[in-house]
Amino acid sequence: MQTNLRGRDFIGDLDFSKEEVETVLDVAWDLKRKRALGEPHPYLRDKTLAMLFFFTSTRTRGSFEAGMAQLGGHAAFIDSDTTQIAHGDTAKEIGEIFGRYFDGIAIRQCDWQFGNRYINEVARHSRVPVLNMQCDVYHPFQCLADLMTIMEKKGRDLRRKKVVVSWAYAASYSKPISVPQSLILQLTRFGCDVVLAHPPEFKLMPEIMDMAQENARKYHTGFEVVHDMDEAFRDADVVYPKSWGPLVTTTGKEEGKALIEKYRDWITDQRRMNLTREDSIYMHCLPADRNLEVTDEVIDGPHSVVYDEAENRLHVQKAVMALTMS
Ligand code: CP
Repeated sequence: MQTNLRGRDFIGDLDFSKEEVETVLDVAWDLKRKRALGEPHPYLRDKTLAMLFFFTSTRTRGSFEAGMAQLGGHAAFIDSDTTQIAHGDTAKEIGEIFGRYFDGIAIRQCDWQFGNRYINEVARHSRVPVLNMQCDVYHPFQCLADLMTIMEKKGRDLRRKKVVVSWAYAASYSKPISVPQSLILQLTRFGCDVVLAHPPEFKLMPEIMDMAQENARKYHTGFEVVHDMDEAFRDADVVYPKSWGPLVTTTGKEEGKALIEKYRDWITDQRRMNLTREDSIYMHCLPADRNLEVTDEVIDGPHSVVYDEAENRLHVQKAVMALTMS
């Protein structure tokens, strides 16, 4: 167990070592148990968290806000429509000023080639921990919840478990690439054989791919890229298919939309789930584009663990806040 997390930022998935992530998970399970038993656990009494949202959110906002209250503290919701954080206030000013008002600063800023730089700039000027609630590069709290869920369903030893992170079609818009990037970075440290599946135009960032390859080498796990969804699903223990934008290929809206439309058949349906292992699990960070990314039959069916996965956001976030902000 590593206990030196007090005062630390959590912006990228690899900011915490593997042992530190194991500590976070241990604490998350303890907090989950305490909540189930109704045991009070006010580790952050009188502490406050600023939650800056430049993008909309349901789960992230709800789970951070509920989590701070359950830890005895308070979370302030600061959105970009009703404040000046999106115009006028610089990252340095936010770090300097909110670092003096609050005991932690959590930020969602997903603008491509900006969000991660912004969060790091706030952190450089903040005297309190800065937590990444999703940027253009990483969604680290989602990925901690995903890892916790996979361990709950498949056991803590994930060696030789085939985990598929797949692109999926969605009509709505070019979604961030942060979820698949966080998944390939974190899961390659935890024993899984990770298969990344996407159409050729939906590549992830080369530097993230390099880090995932390096993890696979260091931790003796598998990391493979395929461009065929059926091939990826075959004998999978875990499938995590979701949409993301072709941002590494193009940032043009029309060009991006045309690329997405080429791959309407990248949907998770029962035929595809039948290719996976009998006891496989279906995961999605939500919100999902129902009947485009995934059929109702699958997301509401026996393989789906999406509600347990969403619940675990609460427990991992409370663990990180308690460890970094106390
Ligand atoms: N999974 C997730 O981050 O959900 P929200 O966008 O609703 O916060």
